[in-house]
Amino acid sequence: MHIAHLSLANYRNIDSAEVALSPGLTIVHGANAQGKSNLLEAVYLLATARSYRAQSERELIAWSAPHRALAMLAAKVRRADGFVDVRVGLQAGEGETVRKQVRVNGVPNRASDLVGVLNAVLFSAEDLDLVYGSPQGRRRYVDVMLSQTSPAYLRALQRYQRVLTQRNALLRNLRDGRAREDELAYWDGALKKEAAVILAARHAAIQLLAPLAAQAFERLAVAGERFVLTYAPTAPTADATTAAALSDAMQHALERTKAQERAMAQTVVGPHRDDIRLTLHGQEMARHASRGQARMGALAMRLAEARFLAERRHDAPVLLLDDILSELDPERRLLVMAETSRYPQTLLTTADLRLVPDAALAGARLLRIAAGRVDPD
Ligand SMILES: Nc1ncnc2c1ncn2[C@@H]1O[C@H](COP(=O)(O)OP(=O)(O)OP(=O)(O)O)[C@@H](O)[C@H]1O
Ligand SMILES: [Mg+2]
Repeated sequence: MHIAHLSLANYRNIDSAEVALSPGLTIVHGANAQGKSNLLEAVYLLATARSYRAQSERELIAWSAPHRALAMLAAKVRRADGFVDVRVGLQAGEGETVRKQVRVNGVPNRASDLVGVLNAVLFSAEDLDLVYGSPQGRRRYVDVMLSQTSPAYLRALQRYQRVLTQRNALLRNLRDGRAREDELAYWDGALKKEAAVILAARHAAIQLLAPLAAQAFERLAVAGERFVLTYAPTAPTADATTAAALSDAMQHALERTKAQERAMAQTVVGPHRDDIRLTLHGQEMARHASRGQARMGALAMRLAEARFLAERRHDAPVLLLDDILSELDPERRLLVMAETSRYPQTLLTTADLRLVPDAALAGARLLRIAAGRVDPD
């Protein structure tokens, strides 16, 4: 798929932009702090219904907007099955609250219905956290990917989160003697049910992703190093794949950790505590990888994500490359641009056009951004 047109109003430092886009490579260039990342963030928000970097959605509405009232984002997307119009309005409410209005082809929708209409993969300098950072970032990696391909997954994840919050509240009440033991059974049942859906999808996803990431790593890295990605569950599942077996595994893990969760008054096993283990030659990357290796690992994971989305959706995603060239050596820059050229559309930002390999620059369209104004170059 590709984005044919992008419209933004009162989004961060972009007061107003109407940008016609075409398939292939588009390079958004400009000095630091002009709005390059903001533009890509807006596209990613249209794909996933959230910002990947704002603490509060209020940050997204332009400071210059009257009373910081309303930001608008819209894209006309050409998909394999035709054109789709996606639109998000962010309306400032009381205090820090923001009301999100979502429309797909003009029809009001829930934010969760927006997810997956436009598919995008974001590559950014912060991706290094996939390797060095906490398990939370790696869980988000699979969760965002799976949510883009399966609304049922996103809903299970949201229900799991709600059940978890309730169950943890009950554990605190039990500790304080304000609840009865038998109240737990209901929440155990609800937790197991959603956990089984999440675990089944994550296991299947990792099975597909692991070889894709290993192949991408081989194409990018200097020597033929073995990059292995495995799902590391806190509730041991053996080789269980059915919902019933995964639910049982979760039940056993809850029983096994009963003492610990009572002591801590929180749920200590389950999808919210799981990790994705990354190794190179069998060595834990978080501890042993060089920065270059970590960077290649993260890039390989993003390239695997792109292939995953392309396969699951039968339509290749839009690639968003935010300022990643400056961290790579010239040969790696060439390899990454060659990899991404296999996709229908790539939006790349850079503060320095000289970093773009000639071969990529030759066929690219340029957009210049200065103080939030976007103009063709
Ligand atoms: N709600 C907002 N209203 C107005 N300006 C904002 C808002 N949020 C962020 N900005 C500003 O937008 C500017 C551009 O940010 P952005 O991250 O897009 O820059 P960039 O072009 O990617 O720069 P760099 O090359 O340093 O990565 C920053 O100066 C930031 O302070
Ligand atoms: Mg930036």
